[in-house]
Formats: sequence, C-alpha cells, structure tokens
Amino acid sequence: MTTSERTINFTRGVPADEAFPAPELADCVTAVLRERRVQVLQYGPSAGFLPLREWVAAHHGVAVDQVLLGNGSLPFIDLLGWALLERGDSVLVESPTYDRTLTLLRRHGARVAGVPITGEGLDLDALEAAVRRVRPRLLYTIPDFQNPSGATATLANRRRVAELAAEHGFWILEDAPYRPLRYRGAEVRSLHELIPARTLHMSSFTKQISPGVRVGYLIGDARLVARLAKAAEDTYITPNLLGEAAVYEFCHRGLLEPQLERLRTLYRPRLEAACAAMRRCLPDAAWIEPDGGFFLSLTLSAGVRAEDLRARAAAAKLNLTDGRGFFPEPADGDRFLRLPFCALTPEEIGDGVQRLAEVVATLARRG
Ligand SMILES: Cc1ncc(COP(=O)(O)O)c(C=O)c1O
Repeated sequence: MTTSERTINFTRGVPADEAFPAPELADCVTAVLRERRVQVLQYGPSAGFLPLREWVAAHHGVAVDQVLLGNGSLPFIDLLGWALLERGDSVLVESPTYDRTLTLLRRHGARVAGVPITGEGLDLDALEAAVRRVRPRLLYTIPDFQNPSGATATLANRRRVAELAAEHGFWILEDAPYRPLRYRGAEVRSLHELIPARTLHMSSFTKQISPGVRVGYLIGDARLVARLAKAAEDTYITPNLLGEAAVYEFCHRGLLEPQLERLRTLYRPRLEAACAAMRRCLPDAAWIEPDGGFFLSLTLSAGVRAEDLRARAAAAKLNLTDGRGFFPEPADGDRFLRLPFCALTPEEIGDGVQRLAEVVATLARRG
C-alpha cells in the first residue's frame, strides 16, 4: 500500500513500536527473576523497589524517602486525590492540558480552572489572576513539550510560577514525562529545581522505555511521599515490583542513556518532518513549534470548526482527535488540533499534514 492509500492517525500520543528495547529488557527481566526471585515476586513495600528508588534519588539529587515509584505516572494523580486534595479544593491546570488528568481531578471532586498556555508556558497574568481568584491547593503543569500543545515554558516563566507558589502557598505538580526527549535546544531548569519545597515532580519510564513496563515516579516532600505511599498501599497493596526491578536493572546496566539517544535519533527527523510540512502546507496556521516530546498543535482560524474538519479528514483517511477533551472548558478547544508525530514515519507525517491542509482549504473556501 502506498502512503497515499494508507489511513494516517494523528490520534494517540504513543511511542513508536520500533522504539522498544525488547532484547535488552528480556535480559533484565531474566536476570531479576534469577537473582531477586522472592523480592520481585512477593508482596513488597508500596513505595516501590528500593534499588530503583535509590537510582531515581541519585539521578535527581534527592533523598530516597522523597521518591515514590508507581504503576506508570498517571496513578499519582489519583493518589494525590486521596492524600492531598479535599473535595471542593481548587486546582489550576493549563488550558489545554492532558485530558486524563482532568478526568481524575474531577473524579476526586476538585474544582478545576484552566489557565491559558502560550508558546512560552503559562499565561502569567492569567495565572496570577486565577491564583488570587480561586486560591488553588495545587497547580498542575507540564512545562516540557506539553501534552497536548507541544509548548515548553521558558526559564523566566518558570521562575514567576515558582514565585507565585512561594507567595501564595500552593503546591506545584510538575508532570515531566517528555523532559528527556529534547531533540534540539538546551534544557530548561525544572520547577523542582527552582522551588523544591513546593514542587512534586513526576515522570515515567513510559516514554523512555515502554508504557507496558508501567513504571513511573514522583519526587517531592518526604512527608507527602509517605502519605502517598500509604494511599498506594490501600489502593493496590504492592506495586509492579517485577517491572520496577527490570527497569532498575536496565538503568543500572547503563542502558538508559543509549536508549534515550536512540529515541532522539528516531524522533528528531519526525519532528523536523512535521515542522517542514507545517511550513510548506499550512504557512498561515497558528501553531506551536516544539523542541521535543510527542506533540505539535495548531489552532484553526475562526470559521473552521474542528468537528467539520474531523469528519472531512476521516473521509480523506486522516484521523484527528477531538481537541475539546483537552480543555477544562471544552468549547475553548473547538478549533484546537493536536498532532502526535512520534509514531509515524516522516513520509506519513508529510502526507498527513498535506491532507490536513487540503481539508482546511476546502472548508475555508466553503466559508
Ligand atoms: C503529560 C502526561 N502525563 C502522564 C501520562 C501518563 O503516562 P504513564 O502513566 O504511562 O506514565 C501521560 C501519557 O501519555 C502524559 O502525556
């Protein structure tokens, strides 16, 4: 089948199938089953497999009791709902933001308010106004290669966010699963580095190794980490020790950095193909150019509704996600499109953006 006949999915933000280090992981799983049989197969501490906690602690320069491991990183939102939030607490999120976080926060009865995001991070005037208005318990932010917009907060922007947290006493939940996947430019200091006392930093091996290993981590205040570990114990007793031990073995053998380098080499041309296609096919579009991660996003011009666009795109064998799900106020996402580029080849990306441009042009002509 040629690319022109193939359906192109700009839908799920998943790693490329060819990115998984299966042979190395197989060796790691075999080794831990042979050498740590009881430790990884028996019930164990809910805070996670100790050697991996120690590895993460050393990697981030924190104490071991500041590290909690989890079954991926998403469940930390649920645990925070039990251990930190009370029903009716206000939580600020970026608008748009990661849709599953919205679902979990609402499930815990949080009052969620959105703060617009720009190519430089949170809109600081809007953030300050929202902080004064709702007095948040927590700000949830994805400062690096944000899902879904692709934006990265500048250092100045992060410094101001940190100042506001210090001044108004709210917690920051810094969700940073894409941070190691920078394809160009220099790393920006994390919020956890800027204001460690008020920041919970979470990340995951999902994007670095595989979602299937289900290993994530959170670092932060030791007392809060202990409360989260208790909530974890009450929720699932023991974590995924086999996965955590395999990931530990992977990191301990020095395989993580070469794996990240392989990923950057695989994904960089995909980002470049996406940006080149945007410039070529949609020169007038309002879009955020990412420097890493999985996503590029654009906002359609007024008059083009994403719903109509999605229907027409599907007819042209191009699947797009409903952007409204990423917004605390769904109507704000009516013209928003997220394009995940990592699980497509450069050729598919170019073809997909071309099809998108053709559909946009048709709709614009019809007025
Ligand atoms: C911003 C963000 N946070 C958290 C997650 C959850 O990932 P996991 O639970 O696999 O670590 C994702 C997954 O796509 C994500 O994009």
